[in-house]
Amino acid sequence: MEIRLYSPLDMHLHLRDGEMLKTVAPLSAKSFSGVLIMPNLVPPVTSKEDVISYKKRILSAIGDEKFTPYMTLFFKSDYSYEFLNDIKDEILAIKLYPAGITTNSQDGVTNFSIDSLAPTLEAMSELNIPLCVHGETNGFVMDREAEFIPIYESIAKRFPKLKIIMEHITTKEAVQALDRYENLYATITLHHLYITLDDVAGDLLKPHLFCKPIAKRPEDRMALRQVAFNAHPKVMFGSDSAPHPKDKKEAPGCAAGVFTAPIALQALAELFYEAGVIENLEKFVSFNAKNIYNIDPPLKEVILEDSGFDVPLKYSNVVPMFAGERLSWRIKDVI
Ligand code: NCD
Ligand code: ZN
Repeated sequence: MEIRLYSPLDMHLHLRDGEMLKTVAPLSAKSFSGVLIMPNLVPPVTSKEDVISYKKRILSAIGDEKFTPYMTLFFKSDYSYEFLNDIKDEILAIKLYPAGITTNSQDGVTNFSIDSLAPTLEAMSELNIPLCVHGETNGFVMDREAEFIPIYESIAKRFPKLKIIMEHITTKEAVQALDRYENLYATITLHHLYITLDDVAGDLLKPHLFCKPIAKRPEDRMALRQVAFNAHPKVMFGSDSAPHPKDKKEAPGCAAGVFTAPIALQALAELFYEAGVIENLEKFVSFNAKNIYNIDPPLKEVILEDSGFDVPLKYSNVVPMFAGERLSWRIKDVI
């Protein structure tokens, strides 16, 4: 059997820089038509020059694939209207990180009072620049996302024209918030559709499944699956594929991030097929994001076939999700 996907999009991707960029960027460019690039480099992407030069490095790493890297800027509370007006054509969104909450977020936001965020948010709202948010407080690790929902709500209420994307949602509380505010949207990862905390820490610890936000409870996964499988128009695929070298994952201080980019479409096909909703996969990985972000990515047709795919143990020095396992679907061709 075959499945065809037109212009798949990954609306939350970490490509890093240097050698890692050269390893991972071609893997996404091969099967995706466009991706939203996260700005958490060291130092983060905070200027027009940073955005333009990072995009150039990405394009040179992917060669001549039909592929659009949509760029983001690292959120600061004091960006001026003039600055954002000047940069808006170079970016698709701005990504807000709470300070210190995840990999390379130390320059993020410390004060979440709405008045402190307002100067940048006001300008973004006027200029129609969407806001992507890593929504976690610094509370108890399992509660961080649910505790952040009131912050989403206060931003959504105060700036009703601002599109707010709750990134990599992991809880039923976030799913419920989606329908309470017209301007709230969400990305969902592959790994949060597959795993719960049990898969990470219920048996021997699995460092390659450790990420932020941490995978949650079965009922949370069920809520995520429900909106993803129905291709709810306000949710879209964002892999949050976050490569770290093997020795940084298999270490006492394990880096947070799951590397899924090269196996994402195959594993999504398996999940949607098994759930009997394969006809909704294209909305989840393409149409919804096109509508939400109003983008027109390059035309690409990915043909998947259910003839089996043995996931490599490593891509260079990075271990993917499902390493060494067999998935049912493989990418047969990309046109
Ligand atoms: C991401 C990374 O490694 O950059 N890590 C992760 O666990 N998801 C950052 C992020 O999106 O939180
Ligand atoms: Zn991320």
